Amino acid sequence: MNRLAVLISGNGSNLQAIIDHIAAGDLDAEISVVVSNRADAYGLQRAAAAGIPTEVLDLVEIKAAGGDRIGYDVELAGLVAGYEPDVVVLAGWMLILGNDFLQRFTPHIINLHPALPGAFPGTDAIARAYAAYQAGDIKHTGVMVHRVVEEVDAGTVIVKEPVPIFPDDSLADLEERIHLVEHNLIVAAIDMVLRAL
Ligand code: GRF
Repeated sequence: MNRLAVLISGNGSNLQAIIDHIAAGDLDAEISVVVSNRADAYGLQRAAAAGIPTEVLDLVEIKAAGGDRIGYDVELAGLVAGYEPDVVVLAGWMLILGNDFLQRFTPHIINLHPALPGAFPGTDAIARAYAAYQAGDIKHTGVMVHRVVEEVDAGTVIVKEPVPIFPDDSLADLEERIHLVEHNLIVAAIDMVLRAL
């Protein structure tokens, strides 16, 4: 069966899109586990409401107990592997994952990033694109799903989609437009990866 492990850090609107498309029967997969690095991530409630097992592994807590980043990646890899995913999906996951995690699941780790390849890697990509548009540096932005490698937001692109920016857009307008594209693109990317397994 097409088993997914979905990693989140916050709201989980992309997780919800995956849940909804599976329930509607247009994504042939099952979410085996949802893992967050934050116990207060609303996405955990979305998973629980859908009857999906959830796990929390909080880096801050692990560091406070004397652990380090590599130990975190090793523990996270073991936790995720226990659910035997075919594909690991980073959907709003905000931590950089090192080789101790990546090597366990490569190449079947994919990440959703709200920018076009090479444009705005890292955090706050939407706000950075908005500022670049205001400065006249770009005409549009976009969304991509890519395979995860050690370099942040730099792996092989699975699918990408441009997103227009309009002169009277507020940042919130652009964020809303981008999230709508994300919710479709993440599902399409998962479908493509599962069919290519
Ligand atoms: C999304 O823009 C995602 O691409 C980024 O975090 C945002 C929140 O995603 N990494 P979600 O609502 O938690 O799915």
